[in-house]
Amino acid sequence: MPKLKIAVFVSGSGSNLQALIDAVNAGIIKGQIEIVISDRPDAYALQRAEEQGIPALCIDKKARRDEASFGLQLMSCLASVKPDLIILAGFLSILPSKFVEEYQGKIINIHPSLIPAFCGKGYYGEKVHRGVIEYGVKISGATVHFVDENTDTGPIILQQAVEVTADDTPETLAKKILPIEHKLIVKAAELFCDKRLQLDGRKVKIRGVIK
Ligand code: GRF
Repeated sequence: MPKLKIAVFVSGSGSNLQALIDAVNAGIIKGQIEIVISDRPDAYALQRAEEQGIPALCIDKKARRDEASFGLQLMSCLASVKPDLIILAGFLSILPSKFVEEYQGKIINIHPSLIPAFCGKGYYGEKVHRGVIEYGVKISGATVHFVDENTDTGPIILQQAVEVTADDTPETLAKKILPIEHKLIVKAAELFCDKRLQLDGRKVKIRGVIK
């Protein structure tokens, strides 16, 4: 089976990108990361890509005229790649709906909570974990989902929970959840590339046993 072409969108340190790179290099993900696109010029994730010889570029959020032009820039960057899968790995910009439509069913996102809790507008990065601590919930976790035209509302692929303890802070909770993000984003990419994900309306069916 030919390797699928993967594009990864990033905004920050790129630890999720690194987990994907390591899993591709280990042959776990039967795909090839063809391009990394950041919306922030100072994202360390760009350096991680360059260290691996992966083409990396920035479409600076600050230099963006409007959503439409952002979408057109993204489309033109991907025109030569024609990715089979786009992975939002700690990516903080909202994708224009026309772009999402074009790649419907081929974009997955990692979110550091158990969707539908603590997600949507304003819930990203540490704000997610602050909301969890302030609310007083007893479990949180991470979710990988398909991206649809809204924020964090697409069909859920994988989730894993962690216990929120009384002494947890947003920082300690973020540290607990980050390794789970890495595990889930790799597993979801592996399943996608192995064509084991079947979208049935809002439901995502996984063929075979998940090891
Ligand atoms: C992760 O918690 C991710 O969910 C959030 O930013 C954190 C760092 O992601 N958006 P990464 O190290 O840039 O992958």
